[in-house]
Amino acid sequence: MFGLIDKLEKEECLEREEWITLLSAYGDEKLRDYAAQKARTVAQGVFGTDIYVRGLIEFSNYCKNDCYYCGIRRSNLGADRYRLSMEDILACCEEGWVLGFRTFVLQGGEDGFYRDEWYEELIREIKRKYPACAITLSVGERTTETYRRWYEAGADRYLLRHETADDAHYRTMHPEEMSPVHRKECLYALKEIGYQVGCGFMVGSPGQGSEQLAQDMEFIHELKPHMVGIGPFVPAAGTPFAKETQGSLELTLFMLSLLRLQEKRVLLPATTALGTIHPLGREMGIQAGANVVMPNLSPVPVRKKYALYDHKICTGEEAAECRGCLNRRMESIGYRIVTDRGDSPYCCERP
Ligand code: SAM
Ligand code: FES
Repeated sequence: MFGLIDKLEKEECLEREEWITLLSAYGDEKLRDYAAQKARTVAQGVFGTDIYVRGLIEFSNYCKNDCYYCGIRRSNLGADRYRLSMEDILACCEEGWVLGFRTFVLQGGEDGFYRDEWYEELIREIKRKYPACAITLSVGERTTETYRRWYEAGADRYLLRHETADDAHYRTMHPEEMSPVHRKECLYALKEIGYQVGCGFMVGSPGQGSEQLAQDMEFIHELKPHMVGIGPFVPAAGTPFAKETQGSLELTLFMLSLLRLQEKRVLLPATTALGTIHPLGREMGIQAGANVVMPNLSPVPVRKKYALYDHKICTGEEAAECRGCLNRRMESIGYRIVTDRGDSPYCCERP
């Protein structure tokens, strides 16, 4: 089994059967530690002890989609909906800029309220005020034309988790109107346009096994994204998956290590969901090979409302407190958050 980790480190891919064997063995603590130690060494070889930080602005929890796992799905009548205005978002950016954030992630549900032109104006305005910042969009599936307009307006990066690379599995987590094929096509289109692209998946989503995770690793190997966002599935009240079992901390950490060994220079966040299922989840994520953290810059009064899942952390803290907290957390394990756009080292190689 240890030999498979050595092989992954060397060859940067495994056969399907090898993946399944390796992933099925995640319960072995020594194996996880072996992978984590190697992954940490690889990450430090690329990024040293620098941790990139992104300011997450969750600007709308309205969504036209109905994903079975997601707390802001359109059918969840218990969700307390909100939208931020352009002024609200710019105020978040100003606060973030002063705190040393050089990347702003604009994330929201697929909310038709905001027109394409509104995004263009927002992107231009952020870039006019903070020319040295990077803008990441995370607003779901759109047309290639729309993606192109936003890129031309100045957006740099796009996060669109593929959720699962197994199409049959995808269909068990989404209503029929959502297409796994289209989601993957969006990722290729975004890359083609020139965005730094992030895909990703939840670990422990209902119906996921080693076979599905093996397919995720293969899909990522093929797409060659600049970033990969993974975190545990956490049940959300008011969704069909509310009573399902939460994803495992150990498996999420193992997946982070394997991703780092396969995609050596990829940007890999230790996510809020990881911090939600364990008080030291984000620290453990960094120690397993991650190199990015994404604290919340959204205004405190709306934080709780962006409830993708239950018991989400950091919903009561001001941006400055959150930033200070993360600084201390990273320092406690020998890393430091840097004031930097934190572009992908693959930028020139993975256009
Ligand atoms: N609408 C955009 C999109 O579809 O990419 C961005 C927002 S979406 C809510 C962001 C991510 O949250 C999803 O890609 C999904 O992986 C994650 N997510 C949703 N529900 C979750 C849950 N119950 N547990 C963990 N992660 C969840
Ligand atoms: Fe948000 Fe600790 S990171 S309060």
